Amino acid sequence: MVRAYAPGKAILFGEHAVVYGHPAVAVAISRGVEVYISESKSWTVENRPLCPNRHPHLNWLVKRNQLTDRPMSIKISSELFPAAGQGSSAALSVAAQLALAESMGLSTNPVDAAITAHQAEAHAQLGRASPTDTATSSLGGCVVVSKNLSGTADPIFQATLDTPEGVMDWDVGAVDLTFDDMPHIVLGHSGDPSQTAKMVSMVAELISENQEKKKDLDSIGELTLMGLVALRSGAWEAVGMTMDVCHEKLRSLGLSTPMLETLIEAVRPHSLGAKITGSGGGGCMMALTYNPERVAQMIEMSGGRAIITPMYCDGARILSS
Ligand code: MEV
Repeated sequence: MVRAYAPGKAILFGEHAVVYGHPAVAVAISRGVEVYISESKSWTVENRPLCPNRHPHLNWLVKRNQLTDRPMSIKISSELFPAAGQGSSAALSVAAQLALAESMGLSTNPVDAAITAHQAEAHAQLGRASPTDTATSSLGGCVVVSKNLSGTADPIFQATLDTPEGVMDWDVGAVDLTFDDMPHIVLGHSGDPSQTAKMVSMVAELISENQEKKKDLDSIGELTLMGLVALRSGAWEAVGMTMDVCHEKLRSLGLSTPMLETLIEAVRPHSLGAKITGSGGGGCMMALTYNPERVAQMIEMSGGRAIITPMYCDGARILSS
């Protein structure tokens, strides 16, 4: 049996805009997904037949790895809320790819896993997916994804995808976050599901109809660059302020919900900054704070579910084989 783990992620800046080549900055979180695979008589997921509609990522990975005739049983144990903007499908794809590759004696290099998992994610998101979630889950730490890194991060690899808008290329890089005074991140789950494919398609439709909304995406790109400068110098108050402004842009794109607004308003007095994280329309908000217990308490008292995570967490790995 092979057991692999991959963490979820929180996007500090740049969700949605990154799909169109603008930069995004994300960190791995302290919770993730474990995948266990073992030989079996047929392909199963949690003892049920592998179904392409229910498990598009896994089905794509099985085909991609040419494993259709080498059936295995897949079991999944997740600490992430599903459909909540925490990158659960990316973490599942990365952990499954690592486990499948290990079982075949192939490369378990995090970059290879990130590239393959990105393709799986794109397949499940109707052809539109940036490599942000999969790269962050695979590499861990703090990851920057952009059409052109231009010195904003240490380059690691390039990702390419054939999207409905044409071929997209992204640079993927890493930023070393080693400061003594790092704040924590608190994620607050609104309880409503967030469907990435649906929200990404909604934004695509919105900007094709309304040029003003396209400007919001461009502004998110500029804010992300400002946030990244602040992040790299450990200017946490500036990081938080940039998160707040980013949230306003995401809200203007129709990506927030009344519950997400309630959670964000509740944590603001105890946070450096707060915003939705991930695709929105439900799912999670995040806060950057030196008072994580208080922020978690405010989230829970407002009806959300809170997760506290440090700003630096390791990436995906094989746990046993
Ligand atoms: C989802 O976690 C982040 C989005 O930007 C989609 C993507 O990058 O593929 C909304």
